[in-house]
Amino acid sequence: MITETRTETKTAIQNPLGLKKIHHVEFYVGNAKQAEFYYRKAFGFSRAAYMGLETGNRETTSYVMRQNRVNFILTTPLSPEHPGSEHIKQHGDGVHDIAFQVEDADHAFHEAVKRGARPVEEPHDHGDDNGMVRHASIATYGDTIHSFLSYAKVGSPSKSSSGGAGTAPQTEEKYAYWGPFLPGFTAQEVAGEEVGIQLVDHIVGNVELGKMNYWCDFYRDVMGFERYITFDDKDISTEYSALMSIVMSDGGHNIKFPINEPAEGKGGKSQIQEYIDFYRSAGAQHVALLCKDIRHTVAKLQENGVEFLRVPDTYYEEVIDRVGAIDESIEDLKRLGILVDRDDEGYLLQIFTKPVEDRPTVFYEILQRKGCKGFGKGNFKALFVSIEEEQRRRGNL
Ligand code: FE2
Repeated sequence: MITETRTETKTAIQNPLGLKKIHHVEFYVGNAKQAEFYYRKAFGFSRAAYMGLETGNRETTSYVMRQNRVNFILTTPLSPEHPGSEHIKQHGDGVHDIAFQVEDADHAFHEAVKRGARPVEEPHDHGDDNGMVRHASIATYGDTIHSFLSYAKVGSPSKSSSGGAGTAPQTEEKYAYWGPFLPGFTAQEVAGEEVGIQLVDHIVGNVELGKMNYWCDFYRDVMGFERYITFDDKDISTEYSALMSIVMSDGGHNIKFPINEPAEGKGGKSQIQEYIDFYRSAGAQHVALLCKDIRHTVAKLQENGVEFLRVPDTYYEEVIDRVGAIDESIEDLKRLGILVDRDDEGYLLQIFTKPVEDRPTVFYEILQRKGCKGFGKGNFKALFVSIEEEQRRRGNL
């Protein structure tokens, strides 16, 4: 049995930093050109914008990958002196920045620092011919940061301006942007064949043994988040893969950051510890991507060669007893390897990819929610058995 405690407070929504949404997730990768190809061809993202040598940036190359409301930036540093090179040396490919759009970057930054955050970048203007944004950042777990961006997104100036250093659109705002993504980027569209990924549902952080409460307190005290769900330690374990997890969420439950820490297994290595050993610190473990029709999305991803964890077929013999009636056919779910779980409010369908790089670190979750607000605790056991099998093959159990 896995113990889940949900704490939803009815208090007024607190949002001390004025967070609006996750603006983008930036990855430092060893070869952004090849990563771009993978995210486009395998995950169905489209390239939306680019910066690099050709656009006058001599420090990094970055591609903006977009699918509906998900924006990823894939960045490769062009010299060993760039801090991204150290990030890649330490962590391999991984999440550098979980960036928020905020009401006011100065306020978000100063309030966060006042509440105990470590500053990374002081608020500064960041602009180009297409407008100006305000940017600042703070540190979170490991070498991961949270950027704060504030600007008004305004419509493009009239097309008649023939793409030159633009006629600014009518706006009173000092911080307004009408370019393809953010200052420094040039529009560069290379369409992918989208697979139906809509939105980032949650991003999970793996932190070191004994540090889960520290980081949950950080999200509570600094960001004004609240404890949403706690997965208790004693029982989230198979023989080996023990972990503890607390889901921190903003008052509106739009931004959900589960924080995991390893727990003592029975002689084997926790999957969380395996991540930390190979990432060489705390870091983002998985990004969960919400879709509207998971059968369609997963079928496309599999066709494109994305590799998923599989649970034993016996899972599907027991699933209906556990979750009751669902709209989808069990045969479809079994064929695709999709998992189901239910809470009081509905059910969810989910599946996890294998790590998307050679170190056993970052992976993706694809999920569809049908009312359920949980994270699939009913699937943990079956999943962990299959994760352990992978760990065993890697010699890391
Ligand atoms: Fe997840």
